[in-house]
Amino acid sequence: MKKTVAIDGPAGAGKSTIAKLVAEKLGYIYIDTGAMYRAVAWKVLDAGVEPTDDNIVDVAKKIDVRLRFVGDAVRVFAGDTDVTEAIRTPEVTALVSQVAQLGPVREKMVELQRSMAKDGGVVMDGRDIASNVLPNADVKIFLTASIEERALRRWKEMKAKGYEEPMDKLTAEIEARDKADSTRTISPLVRVPEAALLDTTGLTIDEVVQKVMGLCG
Ligand code: CDP
Repeated sequence: MKKTVAIDGPAGAGKSTIAKLVAEKLGYIYIDTGAMYRAVAWKVLDAGVEPTDDNIVDVAKKIDVRLRFVGDAVRVFAGDTDVTEAIRTPEVTALVSQVAQLGPVREKMVELQRSMAKDGGVVMDGRDIASNVLPNADVKIFLTASIEERALRRWKEMKAKGYEEPMDKLTAEIEARDKADSTRTISPLVRVPEAALLDTTGLTIDEVVQKVMGLCG
């Protein structure tokens, strides 16, 4: 039977790396819900409008966000534009939590996410997957790591993409985003009691993938 696997956790916990590899091993589809909120933030910046809540909601209503397979890789599209790389800039990251706390934005994205998961065979990662998007998911995992390790991972990721950001700036950015995501009114980041807690501090990617595969049974 094709299962649904929900992976939640704070910024930099390694969700997307792990979810992608686990989906590959299981022959499932990987759904990166953060990328969808990032696409909305990208569009707001691209449109050059003032990032007020009203303008963000307006952009979200019009945007056509899609995750599409190009060859083996999942690419993120806003309309016809491939924004896979563009949604990872520091500017988008700085705006995304404001975008993600708005009810009308979440409603639209959650509906899309549920429709993508309706036939099972998906690994979905985000902040509210087990608690809200897929409360009946077969497997629920809460992935985390120490703040130091999460900041270091993000530093390496950004450096590989050509962004040299100071560690203290990245740490502050992650802490601010964790706070915004955990304290917002609508669908905050929470660990549901039935989710397996996986602290990945000090573990290799392979070790984490093995543990998650074990939980997927
Ligand atoms: O990869 P990283 O941990 O930096 O973040 P992401 O998964 O790309 O998500 C970016 C932002 O989108 C998060 O900080 C949340 O504000 C928001 N998000 C959300 O609210 N709900 C989700 N299911 C996924 C992401």
